[in-house]
Amino acid sequence: MKIINVVGARPNFMKMAPILKVMSSYPRLNPILVHTGQHYDVTMSRAFFEDLELPEPDIYLGVGSGSHAVQTARIMVEFEKVLEQEKPNLIVVVGDVNSTLACSVVAAKLLVPIAHVEAGLRSFDRTMPEEINRVVTDALSEYLFTTSEDANLNLKREGISEEKIFFVGNVMIDSLLQHLEKAKKMNILKKLGLIQKGPKTVPTMENPLDYAVLTLHRPSNVDDPEVFLRIIQALTKVSQHIPIIFPVHPRTRKQIATFGYQSFFKDLETTSVESTRGFIGMTEPLGYLDFLCLMSQAKFILTDSGGLQEETTALGIPCLTLRENTERPVTLTEGTNTLVGTDPEKIISESYKILRGEGKTGRIPKLWDGKTAERIVKILSEL
Ligand code: UD1
Repeated sequence: MKIINVVGARPNFMKMAPILKVMSSYPRLNPILVHTGQHYDVTMSRAFFEDLELPEPDIYLGVGSGSHAVQTARIMVEFEKVLEQEKPNLIVVVGDVNSTLACSVVAAKLLVPIAHVEAGLRSFDRTMPEEINRVVTDALSEYLFTTSEDANLNLKREGISEEKIFFVGNVMIDSLLQHLEKAKKMNILKKLGLIQKGPKTVPTMENPLDYAVLTLHRPSNVDDPEVFLRIIQALTKVSQHIPIIFPVHPRTRKQIATFGYQSFFKDLETTSVESTRGFIGMTEPLGYLDFLCLMSQAKFILTDSGGLQEETTALGIPCLTLRENTERPVTLTEGTNTLVGTDPEKIISESYKILRGEGKTGRIPKLWDGKTAERIVKILSEL
């Protein structure tokens, strides 16, 4: 059974790695890995292949950046050639990025069945490009693997028949659990100056400096200079009480330069954390293991990412999500996530709440147990 597995952008890699690993233990399955090249920087792509021990892609489409239409169209043109040549029995797509949508449309037209991992998530906000990608991909998929029961309900509400829906849990948590111990041994805290050196050494690996971690890249937060500034001002206030470590996505770095916001940030390469109050320190995007190390020992996370809302819930670390809505409501109802939007008052007051020790602790959602890839591949192998 020939299966084409698609990855394209950073959040795909940690979802696909455990699936490929399990597939390779089934002799009947012939998995092929296609990388569209939506993300291409070393820090956004290559580093994840190494950290997650992903095999080299069998096929690399090299599409790169562009407007949504340009990027989606380029992936479609290249992926159509792949399907015509390889004639797979099935394709597997993960998540909600443009690569997920583009490959699904091509497969559906060529009558190749689609399995969508992380199906059924809905923010009900169609200004978000990912929401369009989710709705279309799910409508075209034959096998819909879901992470939570709310996703099952969303799919049924959209008229998708029950036999197509498989509640299997969260494959990203498979990766997290597989790599957590190794990640904790990484050198990144020392590298970023979060473990102090010198005679008064107090913070150690077990007891580092308190810090928060920030990630921001959604167009709705970083493409509008006023919204972005409002967020930065709130974060500057929070950083009077706790240093904030900020691995910066390439699009966000570009926007900081365009809007002239550099002066709000310090460069972690040249400034040491302990010497300054009001510290928001920028660093390059981190690899999977370094980021997991940093996140797992943080006091709390501020983010607009989808994946981090789930990873912090799995780790029991409070997460403040700088968005008005989430497609992952289970992280609010059961996990450690709180929506703060872009309202400075809310960002500040919820941060202070965590600093007072009143952050959410939460519980692990059902089937986020590290065995999701096994469940998915077992189902696919019996088709
Ligand atoms: C994409 C996903 C988003 C995901 C995010 C994680 C879509 C619609 N969005 O957003 O859901 O949360 O990945 O990172 O698919 N760039 C580089 N180098 C790279 C990749 C991107 O410099 O390796 C820059 C380019 O200027 C590019 C911009 O980032 O135009 C945006 O990249 P793109 O892949 O279009 O979307 P992301 O914002 O990364």
